[in-house]
This record gives sequence, structure tokens and C-alpha cells, in this order.
Amino acid sequence: MSKRLLGYLTIERPKRAPLQLQLCRGLRSAIQDGALSPQDQLPSSRDLASRLGLSRNTVTAAYDQLVSEGYLESRPRSGLYVADRLTFQTPVRQPPPRVTMTPRVSGPSPFRPSQPDVRLFPLAAWNRMRARALRQHGEALLHYQSRLPLGLPVLQRALAAYLRDSRGVDCAWEQVAVTSGSQQALYLIGQLLLRPGGVAYVEDPGYNGAKAAFSATGARLAPVPVDAQGLAPPAALEPGSLLYTTPSRQFPTGASLPVARRLALIQAATQASAWIVEDDYDSEFRYSSAPLPSLYSLNPGGRVIYIGSMSKILFPSLRIGYAVLPSKFVEFFEALRTIVDDHGPLVDQATLAEFIASGALYAHLRRCRAAYAERASSFCDTAAALGLPFRFAHTEAGMNLLGETANGDERSERLRQRGFDIPPLSAYSIESRRDGLVFGFTAFEPSAARAALRKLAGCL
Ligand SMILES: Cc1ncc(COP(=O)(O)O)c(C=O)c1O
Repeated sequence: MSKRLLGYLTIERPKRAPLQLQLCRGLRSAIQDGALSPQDQLPSSRDLASRLGLSRNTVTAAYDQLVSEGYLESRPRSGLYVADRLTFQTPVRQPPPRVTMTPRVSGPSPFRPSQPDVRLFPLAAWNRMRARALRQHGEALLHYQSRLPLGLPVLQRALAAYLRDSRGVDCAWEQVAVTSGSQQALYLIGQLLLRPGGVAYVEDPGYNGAKAAFSATGARLAPVPVDAQGLAPPAALEPGSLLYTTPSRQFPTGASLPVARRLALIQAATQASAWIVEDDYDSEFRYSSAPLPSLYSLNPGGRVIYIGSMSKILFPSLRIGYAVLPSKFVEFFEALRTIVDDHGPLVDQATLAEFIASGALYAHLRRCRAAYAERASSFCDTAAALGLPFRFAHTEAGMNLLGETANGDERSERLRQRGFDIPPLSAYSIESRRDGLVFGFTAFEPSAARAALRKLAGCL
């Protein structure tokens, strides 16, 4: 037996994989790499077993396995041979991956934007509702449910009722598509409405998730400037285009779009037969007044596609978002969703339906709103007391605060090196030259935020 062949048949001890499997793997690689050629005779099982310190049974079982896979063939009264006509491409062997400890998942560093405080989430109540939902729906929840690409009807109904009551979104429940985060809604809407060479208007600065989803279609991104009142509506839109906006609270600057601009947008979209995608991602968090009505509520059944997310009001890893689709798109959206992943996780959807219907969602929102309101004012007070070089605008709502300042890029980088995660405004910009840092404040308790801000003051 050649030295080269023996090199392939090194058996690892203590064994990480069963011995038979290790031997099969070694023999296969030897054949694929040409250390054993077609028609070569294999050593007898007794010989190989004694060479490798294995039992004869192990070797025989490995040989049988390779015969059944077609690598080896047995010739009566002669022995085992490498099968004829096996030619493999010369493999480029990658070095085996280094075995490292699986990295622990960790929470956000200060002051990473758009992070809810998941410690406020009533996990025990959620788990009880999950158990109840499983009892109610039975094992049907565990099967493929390919006829439900838009989600469980109980959740579609619960969301439609929630959106009508809290956001003024009047729609039939069949128009509500439950998606994997609002990111999937953005992606599928882009696939549905945009073509290569088409135009997607996006806020500048604006949400990168939307830009990525729309530019993946080959459409051109047309940046629309954002000022202190939010997006400045273009006088006219390209026919058949799409415009993405965050009117309740512009991401990432925090401005709320005044009604006159909302009406101008709807008029421009109507004239151009364009679609407005309204991303209402954190409108539930307004601290000094009631949430603003949605843009959709000004043009129900018109040119607005409304999308929202459970990521901020419950927890992001749930990956549940939704879109309110124009009725004529429902069928196309269903077809696309079926291609992507058939349907979303139904146990979570049933639990969420229960969570909404039981009133737990509203209670949780009240709790978060109170905590976040306190955190927003504590953050701003501490920043002022420390004399930080930022001007904070739009502090009455949302999860993020834009701190306007000069040299945002450089400051963000310096802070990153000291363990902070505070992106500069340029990270969200195409042409905009507005400068500043985007602070998320909701995930950090006031005492932790104060300590982090003191450290930040030292770094600057
Ligand atoms: C503007 C905006 N829209 C939507 C989302 C939520 O995305 P998803 O529902 O995919 O978690 C975010 C999250 O950061 C966001 O900032």
C-alpha cells in the first residue's frame, strides 16, 4: 500500500466522526484525487484493518458502502477494485475551516440606532400565548400551509383591526400581507413594481434597507432631499415610478412630514400613476402627543402602499412585518412570496394574533412609550449637561436622535474605536451633505446611557 494512499486514511483518535465514516471519507478522497486510480485493487479488509488498527467489520462496512455508491466494484474471486471510468476534476482543496467557539450573539453597543429594549418584552406572557395558540390551532400549525403565503388569516384580521384603530389605515384584511420583517415587504414590492431602468425615489438621507431592496431590481435610485420638515416632494414624478418615504418620522433625521407635503406627494403620485411606499416603522413611539395619522389615511385605496414592522414594537428577531397591498396586487404578491419561502413561521404568527387580540400589544406599547419617553429626555438632559457638541432636533418621538454636528464621519469613527456604534449621517446619504451622528437611545436604561454619554464626552 502506497505511502500516499496511507496519507488519506489517517484515522482521527479520539474520534470526531465514526470510524467507518472516516474511512469512507478517506477512500473517496483518495479516489477523487487520483491516489487510487480506476482498476486499482484495494487491499484486503484484513490487511487494511491491521494497518489502520481497525476492526475488520469496520473496513468491510466501509468497502460495502463505497460499492453501493459506485466508487468500488467487486470482482468474484479476485477482490475489490476502483470502478472503471471514474474521472474527477482535479480538486482545489480548501484548507479545513478552523474550529472556533461559536460566537455568542450579543446585544447592541451604545448608541446603535433603531434598537428596542427587548428586556421590556413580556416573554412569559408571550410563551403562554404561544402554548395557547398551539392548543387552539392544533397540529395544523406545524404543516406546510402553502395556501397561506400572506400569513395566517387570524393575524391578517388582527393586524387590519390594529391598523384601522391606531393608524387610520382602512383596508380589507385580505390586503394585509404578513412578511418576514418589513425588509421582505420592501424587497417584494420592488420586485413587483420596478424594472431595470425604472426609477425609485428615495429620501436622502434615508433608509438603506429600502435602497438595497429597490436597487436590486436594476432600478435607478433618485435621491430626494430631506430638510427640517422631512422629504421635499418633487414637483413631478416619472410615470410608473415608486417613491419611498417615512412620513411619520423621517429616518434617520426624525422630521414629521406636514400635511401639505403629504397632499403634494399624493397628487404627484396620482398624476404620474406612481406608487408611494409609506414605511411607518416606529410611529407608535410619540411621547408628547398622539401618533400622527398615516399618509395612507389621506388616500385610502389610492396610490399608497403601507408597510410596518413588529421589529421595533416587539423584538427584531421575530422577523414579522406587513404590507397593506392594493387589491389588484394581492395575487402577484402571493405568487412572489410563494417563490421566496412559501410562507412565514405560523406558530409565531398565531402567537402574535393572540398577543394583539388579548390587548397585550397595547399594554406593551404603553410600557415602552413611558420608558422611552423617560430615556429620550434623560439622554437630552445629560448631553446638554455634559456640553456635548451636538444639536438634537425632533426629540419628541421615535427611537433615534439626530445629533447635528461638524465632522460627523471622523467623530463616528473615533467613537467606534472606543466601543460605540453611532453611525454618521453620511452612512445613510447619497448626495446629501448634511452632517451629524445618529444616536439610538431606546435600548439603554437611563443610568447606562448616562455612563456611556460621560465616556463619550471623554472620547470627544
Ligand atoms: C426605516 C426603517 N424601516 C423598517 C425597519 C424595520 O425593518 P424590519 O421589519 O425588516 O426589521 C427599520 C429598522 O431599522 C427602519 O429603520
